[in-house]
Amino acid sequence: MVIQKVYENIESCFEGIVVAGNKIGRKIGFPTANLNIQSGINFPTLNGVYSVEIQHGDERFGGVMNIGVKPTFEENLKEKVFEVHIFEFDKEIYGELLKVEICSFIRREKKFRNVEDLKKQLSEDCDTAKEQLLNKNQETHYQAHYLQEFNRDIETTVIHLPDLDFVRFCEEKFSVNRGVYNTVDKWFAEHQVVNIIRRRMTILRFLYWVTVYIPRECKLEFGPKGLTEQLSFYYMNHVKGEK
Ligand SMILES: Cc1cc2nc3c(=O)[nH]c(=O)nc-3n(C[C@H](O)[C@H](O)[C@H](O)COP(=O)(O)O)c2cc1C
Repeated sequence: MVIQKVYENIESCFEGIVVAGNKIGRKIGFPTANLNIQSGINFPTLNGVYSVEIQHGDERFGGVMNIGVKPTFEENLKEKVFEVHIFEFDKEIYGELLKVEICSFIRREKKFRNVEDLKKQLSEDCDTAKEQLLNKNQETHYQAHYLQEFNRDIETTVIHLPDLDFVRFCEEKFSVNRGVYNTVDKWFAEHQVVNIIRRRMTILRFLYWVTVYIPRECKLEFGPKGLTEQLSFYYMNHVKGEK
């Protein structure tokens, strides 16, 4: 079935060239490499902190990545930054290429009251990332199981459920509330995904895509404009042009 391919093809790798940031990271004891993204990104860019593996030349390191707008320091950053803090790494690598692979989501980005609170959180993020990277294989196994179960559900029953049951399935399976569901449904309807069965497939694919790194126990929330941003990205890369 076509849908299975879409799910299996979620890419968690990308490449970026290291560019100069504001150098605050170094001052607070967490130097980061700010990345200018080179390869096409095919995963949801939800603002937040992720555990990652980083390839520099032939060497591979663990690390943490923040995708976001650094609200503690910046009032109104227009473009998201992708920055990685690499464990046990202390080299000048401006202009060099890093390959990053996402392992798992850790938390959402937030505005801290002061630098001390941010530093404390960063240290906890590093501990969480190290733990997640150690358990990486187990995690992958869990996701594969989730995927199989999910594909079977879709093929057999979900897509033909009565309206309310379909909505409830989405709420439960992806931990989204009714408001998020309604916005997603309306957004696709307004973007020419008119046929009901096709729209349901598209909604399921989108919700799967946007939650793939978010642990099930974590309720999915989007910041201001966050949901529309993810919908536009998904639509441009996965829906537009589809028959
Ligand atoms: C793992 C990690 C988590 C981060 N989390 C946040 C956050 O929640 N809120 C925030 O405002 N900035 C966060 N940042 C961004 C820092 O504020 C940023 O690294 C710092 O401002 C240094 O930026 P610079 O290298 O451009 O100077 C995080 C950075 C990293 C590496």
